Amino acid sequence: MLLLGAMASAWLPANAAGDTAEEAAAIVERFASGLQAELKGAMQRGGPLEAITVCRDIAPSMAAQLSRDTGWQVRRVSLRARNPAIGLPDAWEQAQLQRFADAQENGASLPLRHFERVVEPAGVAVRYLQAIPTQGLCLACHGAVEEQPPALRAALEAHYPHDPATGYRVGELRGAFSLRRWEQP
Ligand code: HEC
Repeated sequence: MLLLGAMASAWLPANAAGDTAEEAAAIVERFASGLQAELKGAMQRGGPLEAITVCRDIAPSMAAQLSRDTGWQVRRVSLRARNPAIGLPDAWEQAQLQRFADAQENGASLPLRHFERVVEPAGVAVRYLQAIPTQGLCLACHGAVEEQPPALRAALEAHYPHDPATGYRVGELRGAFSLRRWEQP
């Protein structure tokens, strides 16, 4: 552990850790505000049926574009992922998400952030997780199932027959933006 600490600080000067965390936070800001604008626009144009495509298609393609632009792996994860193919958290993400959820239960308000250098089988990574709070806008598709119009429920069920991502309330932890970048050895 000590050796690792020494190596890690040799690779990354003390203030670089702060810069790296800021860089990750700025990428999340770009992703979050882009998504928010797309979602609002689609909801206004065609309601939730049209907006499904924002969370389903536009979010992953924005994440992929940001990954290409910045060299960070960018994704969204959740302890209750609607799409298990891309939204399931790995062990580190699960542990941090659980910490966010516990902190929130104990009165901390979202968004919570966590930045850490993590030793993984494939190498050393810097990782950043930022909580995504549920907003009013999200409830159409992530709120109470009973309040969803039948056409919307049918559309969601067609794609996600085992959908755990409903029943959220405003302010609750919906998931997190997760960023990872490998350090050069
Ligand atoms: C119009 C419906 C709709 C609205 C509104 C909506 N979402 Fe989603 N959301 C979805 C769908 C569909 C998926 C699954 C995407 C996929 O297939 O990858 C999803 C997935 C997600 C995921 C990825 C993890 C998972 O569960 O698969 C997060 C995080 C998320 N939504 C957050 C939000 C937030 C925060 C809001 C409000 C700002 C919001 N969503 C609004 C439909 C919606």
